[in-house]
Amino acid sequence: MIGRASILTYGCQMNEADTTDIGQALKRAGYELTRSWDQSDLVVLNTCAIREKAEDRIRGTLGHLKSLRARRPWLVVGVMGCMAAQSADYLSHEADFVIPPMEAGQLSEVLAGLPPPPGLGEEEGDLPPLEMNQETPFKRFLPIIRGCNHRCTFCVVPNTRGPEYYEPPEELFQKVGEMRDRGVLEVTLLGQTVNAYVHGGWTFATLLQEMAHRFPAVGFRFITSHPRQFSDEIIEVMATRPNVMPYLHLPLQAGSDRVLRRMKRLYTFAEYEALVGRVRSAVPDLALSTDIICGFPGETEEDFDRTLEAMKRIRFESAFMFYYSERPGTAAVNLDGKLPIPARKERLARLIRLQKDIQMEVNQSEVGRRRRCLVERTSKKDPAVMLARTPSNKGVLVPGPESLIGSYLELEIQRADSFILFASQRA
Ligand code: 5AD
Repeated sequence: MIGRASILTYGCQMNEADTTDIGQALKRAGYELTRSWDQSDLVVLNTCAIREKAEDRIRGTLGHLKSLRARRPWLVVGVMGCMAAQSADYLSHEADFVIPPMEAGQLSEVLAGLPPPPGLGEEEGDLPPLEMNQETPFKRFLPIIRGCNHRCTFCVVPNTRGPEYYEPPEELFQKVGEMRDRGVLEVTLLGQTVNAYVHGGWTFATLLQEMAHRFPAVGFRFITSHPRQFSDEIIEVMATRPNVMPYLHLPLQAGSDRVLRRMKRLYTFAEYEALVGRVRSAVPDLALSTDIICGFPGETEEDFDRTLEAMKRIRFESAFMFYYSERPGTAAVNLDGKLPIPARKERLARLIRLQKDIQMEVNQSEVGRRRRCLVERTSKKDPAVMLARTPSNKGVLVPGPESLIGSYLELEIQRADSFILFASQRA
């Protein structure tokens, strides 16, 4: 061991998956991984740039690390992830190395060029080691596409992660085989537009079908899908493969066609709604989740009402809701009709209130149902209560011992609120 290293991960599941690779590179370079970043010799921030708030948080952490340097002058700070592309100039003054997503493969080389840390201080002793994904070793993310070919006008991802690159199918099958052999029960296929997958003669539908066929004991989910490329073949695979889980994350972003056009989303609300109708009628018990942006430049009260109306019509099982955040380098920066931040926040509060009520009602319909749930971990509030997930990825709290983690239970849902289900264990 040449020193201790920590990784702080921000943002999306793609970053979580990348953190596994970063961890492996650090170990290969001779570092021991630990959660105690204030006692590390090297800290890697795996960053997010999707909204200004994400960058603000990371700037705060960089400030903390600077003050930590007073005590540990040899501390090395590296920045990876999307902010390393989006704000490289700023970071070049704040970090010892900055590696954007498209150059992530260079990490090992950069590590090899670092000066070794000055041996371990006596006061420190053994630190809790960090094993990647130790909380849920039976769930894994698998990136199948990197980058994004869309040009949504609000989004930094095409700038930070570059154009689409598709992982070869045989490598993906091999990786899932290895995961299965290590006891992984559920795999989530990842891509910014996961359903855009193409490779040789393969499409996303045929890849998913083959995955499900080759690994019948593994449950598959996939995020994130773009409505424009969601083919009937994908619906068919979801409907016919029992181990493709009934969960779909399909960002709507806005309910007004005028706003959708200005966002360059490439569909109308009517097309979106028709697609949802097809998926829901083919996949019973589907849980549909979405992303919504409010306060986009030029969004009128009437446009915003369309979004509220859309949410009432579709009744998403869950929604990630954001107010528009201006991102340097994106096309929306040049659109007119910017709304003041308080107006954006006020719309967001209305969205959240509406969705909370909808979720309360949707979740009530789960009461009395029996679901085969995977127990993930102990609940944060009570160690005698476990957090499990339904096939559609809803959280369920159930009393029980820690020894249940990693096993499937047949649970009867007894109670529900807007954000969680409650179950009892039945023999
Ligand atoms: N402002 C607000 N929300 C954004 N998202 C992406 N870019 C922005 C932005 N500039 C949201 C979208 C996307 C999710 C990951 O983040 O809803 O689907």
